[in-house]
Amino acid sequence: MQFTLEARSKNARAATIKTAHSTIKTPVFMPVGTIGSVKSLDAEDVLNLLGAEIILANTYHMYLRPGDKVVAKMGKLHNFTKYPKSFLTDSGGFQAFSLSDISKPMENGIEFRSHIDGSKHFFTPKKVIDIQTNLGSDIMMILDDLVALPATQERIKVSIERTTAWAQESIDYFRSQQAKGICVDQNIFAIIQGGTDKAFRKKSATELCAMDYDGFAIGGLSVGELNKEMYDTVEHTVQYMPEDKPRYLMGVGTPEDLIENIERGVDMFDCVMPTRNARNGTLFTSFGRINIKGAKFKEDTSPIDEECQCLTCKTYSRAYISHLFRSKELTYFRLATIHNLHYYLNLMREVRAAILEDKFAEFKEEFYRKRS
Ligand code: GUN
Ligand code: ZN
Repeated sequence: MQFTLEARSKNARAATIKTAHSTIKTPVFMPVGTIGSVKSLDAEDVLNLLGAEIILANTYHMYLRPGDKVVAKMGKLHNFTKYPKSFLTDSGGFQAFSLSDISKPMENGIEFRSHIDGSKHFFTPKKVIDIQTNLGSDIMMILDDLVALPATQERIKVSIERTTAWAQESIDYFRSQQAKGICVDQNIFAIIQGGTDKAFRKKSATELCAMDYDGFAIGGLSVGELNKEMYDTVEHTVQYMPEDKPRYLMGVGTPEDLIENIERGVDMFDCVMPTRNARNGTLFTSFGRINIKGAKFKEDTSPIDEECQCLTCKTYSRAYISHLFRSKELTYFRLATIHNLHYYLNLMREVRAAILEDKFAEFKEEFYRKRS
């Protein structure tokens, strides 16, 4: 993977990441395609979305169904899903923690029960690398031990110690596999933990960033803490991360969260928000959110957002989208998802242009002015 830092505007960065399957311009928002599909869209729809060069899939889900060996036989994620650009796969640690009926983090890995059939499984650092090797993702994530906030100091301490030990085991195994000619086109990121505690974040970041990873993620945020605590934790953690590698904030967030964290030096994001909100009727616009359920849209001939250039806004009225939503028509999900993802991707494109002109501060001011 090639990472080229092109510009900075204060702490905000614009870079390119070149993988075996695409060139990703940052700041980047990665649409979530948990089971190898961005919900309600097909690969062609995603390719038609402005600049979608990378999507995220989940190890936990693909391992349980259809099984990583099936995906490998079908030509790995790219050929199986027919999305030819980059994939990042999360390791499964987070999903075992949030979805599984029972999840038990232990010294050597995480035991969990499938949310599909209740069967028992055990993820270890090496096992999730083998699974992600079968999936063929361009960027794989290490197994990490994350904690729900608020948590005790003792539990956070265990989490960062365990994550560091797993990270060492993961990088040694990954590089030794590469030396054998396995997973040579793939990359691996470590995940910094530590809750909202500054000393723990420093320790976790310093230990992980000394290892030979291709990039680093900040994990364990957007799990119940206040926005300000998230921003402060990111600002603090970024100081201990290298300049010459990508920085990824996992599971974040709202458009405002993206702007605030880009300002603090984050390059990559993923979140279910644009896709999940679309399905619930919440649509993002340049002047804030709207809920398409509202009676006032019943006879509204204007598009969702006058400024939006997406397929949905170029073609359909709010009245029609609102009617499809009320009728629970399947086409609604696709059209709303296309709009919300276009909004997020376009926001990243505009932020990047502003950083390249060293006008991030002006961009941010205008962004907030429009929503007030
Ligand atoms: N997704 C959102 N946060 C996290 C995290 O802390 N770890 C992992 N593995 N995935 C995440
Ligand atoms: Zn639109």
